[in-house]
Order: sequence, then structure tokens, then C-alpha cells
Amino acid sequence: VSLARIQSFSISLDGFGTGEGLSREEPFGHAGERLHQWMFATRWWHEMQGEPGGSRGIDDAFVRLHDVGVGAEIMGAGKFGYPGWHDDPDWQGWWGLEPPFHTPVFVLTHHTRPPLELEGGTTFHFVDAAPAEVLGMAREAANGQDVRIGGGPSMIREFLKAGLVDHMHAVVVPLLLGRGVRLWDGLEGLEDRYTIEATSSPSGVVHLSYGRTAT
Ligand SMILES: NC(=O)c1ccc[n+]([C@@H]2O[C@H](COP(=O)([O-])OP(=O)(O)OC[C@H]3O[C@@H](n4cnc5c(N)ncnc54)[C@H](OP(=O)(O)O)[C@@H]3O)[C@@H](O)[C@H]2O)c1
Repeated sequence: VSLARIQSFSISLDGFGTGEGLSREEPFGHAGERLHQWMFATRWWHEMQGEPGGSRGIDDAFVRLHDVGVGAEIMGAGKFGYPGWHDDPDWQGWWGLEPPFHTPVFVLTHHTRPPLELEGGTTFHFVDAAPAEVLGMAREAANGQDVRIGGGPSMIREFLKAGLVDHMHAVVVPLLLGRGVRLWDGLEGLEDRYTIEATSSPSGVVHLSYGRTAT
């Protein structure tokens, strides 16, 4: 079965998945890099940067699930670029010539453009369609593997609301952002549809694992 999975989605203690004031200079607005410090400390991250060191504990174990068994990603327009990127025909995302996805990536946007093929197996497809429809396209492209629901918070909220998410790994960071884009709004009762495990890490973050309850 091809699952729709969220991996390592980081939120503040007050539920924000990004800050306020997003720009080309500040992709997470006033949140800066604070939502992902726990990840940057892992050995997995260090390996990706070609650096030695990094933690080998529970944070590293969880983050290593990010790509395993994933054959495609769906992301929102707000993850692909800064506000206004669609007016910049040269914008190719934040990730350089060889993005770390190595799969087809479906970018949900009202401003579609032709597919963008970059090095290392990543092709961005720009689609304007309902979440269920895009999930169907991504599943087909994933060739039997899982589809990662990549964020940001607005599109994850839409997918959760539509009941399309099979598994969610969210990471609660002990940080009060106070403002930004909330993950949990409009999802009252979500816990009734999932079996939830919480694992505290010595780093201070809590890993929440939501598995869809069999119906
Ligand atoms: N905390 C984390 O782990 C994490 C992970 C990933 C990203 N982020 C951050 O999250 C922020 C972006 O999140 P966000 O909530 O602002 O935006 P987002 O969820 O990335 O994208 C939302 C946008 O996608 C487009 N869209 C969504 N559904 C659509 C549909 N059905 N059809 C067509 N277009 C659709 C719309 O853009 P248009 O109308 O403009 O096309 C919408 O405004 C960034 O700061 C990013 O760095 C955080």
C-alpha cells in the first residue's frame, strides 16, 4: 500500500509551523531557523552536509525515516518559494541545482508553470487541483512507494482536514513563536481518527507519531 506520510514536520509549542514575515531573506520569517535546530544537530543532517559529528540518539533515528520508502512529495507554494516567487520566472526553489528530493515533487499552486527538471532525479510539477486529486497524481508517480506530504502548515492542514493523511510525524519544539501560520486550526477532534504516540527526546523536542486508526 502507498501511504501518505508527513515526516519531521516541526511546530512550536503554540502550534505554529512557520513564523510571520516570510521573505526571500527569511524563509521562516521571524521564526528563523529555530524550528529546525533539533534536526541540524543530528548525524543525518551532518552527513548530508558532508560534515563529521552529529547526535546519534532518538532525533537522529526519527529524522532518518524522512526519505525511506518515499517515491514522491507534495508541497505547497509557500514551501517552494517566498511570497511573490511566481512573478520570478527564474525561481527554481530554495535547494539549488540538485535538490534533496530525488523524486517527482508536486507543487500545489494557483500559478502553474511547465515542469522543472533539476539534477539528481527531482522534477517539480506545478499543479492547481484538489488535494485528493494531487495525491492521486503523486501516487502514480511514486510507483507503489509512499507519498510525503511535505508542508508547509497550510497544505498539511488541508490534507488532514480532507482525511488524506495515513501517518504524521510532527515534532513539537519548546519554543513560543506567538505568530505565524498555525497547523492545528480547524482540526478539532483529529485525535479520534489516529493512534498517537509521544516520545520525548533529551534534546527537548517531543516526537508525535499519528497513525491512522483502522476503520
Ligand atoms: N515546520 C516545518 O517543518 C516546515 C516544513 C515545510 C515548510 N515550512 C515552512 O512553511 C512555510 C510555508 O507554509 P504556508 O502554510 O505559508 O504555505 P504552504 O502550505 O506551503 O502553501 C500554501 C499555498 O499553496 C497553494 N495551494 C494550496 N492548496 C492548493 C490547491 N488545492 N490548489 C492550488 N494551490 C494550492 C496556495 O498558493 P498560491 O495561491 O500562491 O498558488 C496556498 O497559499 C514556509 O515558511 C516554509 O519554510 C515549514
